[in-house]
Amino acid sequence: MAQLRRANNVADLRLMARRRLPRPIFDYIDGGADDEWSLRRNVTAFADYQIVPDVLNDVSSIRTETRIFGQPSRWPLMLSPTGLTRMFHGHAELAVARAAARHGLLYSLSTMGTTRLENLAQAYAGPKVFQIYIFKDRGLTAEFVARCREAGFHGLALTVDTPVAGNRERDRVSGLSLPPKLTLKSLFSFACHPFWSLPAMTGSKFDLANVSHKVDALASGPMSLFDYIGGQFDRSVGWRDVEWLAQEWNGPLAIKGVMTPEDARRSIASGATGVMISNHGGRQLDGAPAPIDQIQAVREAVGEAPDVICDGGIRRGSDVVKALALGATACSVGRPYLYGLAAGGEAGVERVLTLLHEEFERTLTLAGVNDIASLSHRHVRHVRHRPERGHASPAV
Ligand SMILES: Cc1cc2nc3c(=O)[nH]c(=O)nc-3n(C[C@H](O)[C@H](O)[C@H](O)COP(=O)(O)O)c2cc1C
Repeated sequence: MAQLRRANNVADLRLMARRRLPRPIFDYIDGGADDEWSLRRNVTAFADYQIVPDVLNDVSSIRTETRIFGQPSRWPLMLSPTGLTRMFHGHAELAVARAAARHGLLYSLSTMGTTRLENLAQAYAGPKVFQIYIFKDRGLTAEFVARCREAGFHGLALTVDTPVAGNRERDRVSGLSLPPKLTLKSLFSFACHPFWSLPAMTGSKFDLANVSHKVDALASGPMSLFDYIGGQFDRSVGWRDVEWLAQEWNGPLAIKGVMTPEDARRSIASGATGVMISNHGGRQLDGAPAPIDQIQAVREAVGEAPDVICDGGIRRGSDVVKALALGATACSVGRPYLYGLAAGGEAGVERVLTLLHEEFERTLTLAGVNDIASLSHRHVRHVRHRPERGHASPAV
């Protein structure tokens, strides 16, 4: 606990997570696809925006409440879906959801989660979204819709940026296998991190808890759960499938992985109530633009009503202020809370959410903004960084 209190920002928690986890597990969280250009750009793009403050505006109290997926949120942040959470800490998704609830924030559970959606819903009454895929077996997708309705989930986020798995080279280098196994390559790193490795190897097994019944039902012999789910990704998914899902669900639905104004407009026309501008945290298409750079065009395309959520690269509360000023309804974070979870379980998630919230409110106060509804384009200015003096190219 004392150590967590010494973390001053997301970057500190990332370092703590790196020390605590075996390298292959840390790299699975931290890494991105190919050259990791999009992963880096997601974060650094925020530095291209300045916050332009108002002064002498009464900021003695600040209104930050909003609604995301139709649900109340204490401030405009939500927790992105992340798979295999038990791999990072034994308390897994429940620890994250409980911390989110204490902060009045929306939690999203991944299809690839290690906690059954019914168990999460039973243990956690807060606002929750289920991240869904349109699988080859449409029956499996329809089954999820029915289970989410029954369990009381408030919204669905349909992930559309995974027609194939991204090329995560760190995982190849580290020899990570899913579920994690001791291999010759990873043995040393696992042995050096007994606080992680012992509970992980002796505790409950890594399970894709929401789909494991399918493999049991198939009595598929040597077919692993991971092979089964890998084989379910469908490259032929199109807009008609989105229309079908929107009708089946008939509730708040965001398309996660939208990047362009055209696709955002098409999402809403197909029955979605919002979009998550996302490149999967740089884990899929390397070279995809940063979400922050797409907000303005997407908002202009869809108008005022739909949720526009900026997902990826947020490492400071001030990043959320910038995204809102550009037109986002809210932001969504993945790695920041996973770093917190790996560093200290539920208390680590709590710490990261507290830090981001404090940064967010402090930034609004310093920017002279007392109501997030009044944030607008005039509070943000785009700047293009020139090379530092002394580093200019010889041709200039
Ligand atoms: C370890 C890890 C697992 C993830 N698993 C999923 C997943 O199962 N489904 C999904 O739609 N996105 C998944 N994502 C992407 C996140 O939902 C989110 O888009 C991304 O983390 C946002 O970028 P950030 O990490 O910079 O906040 C995952 C991301 C990470 C880091």
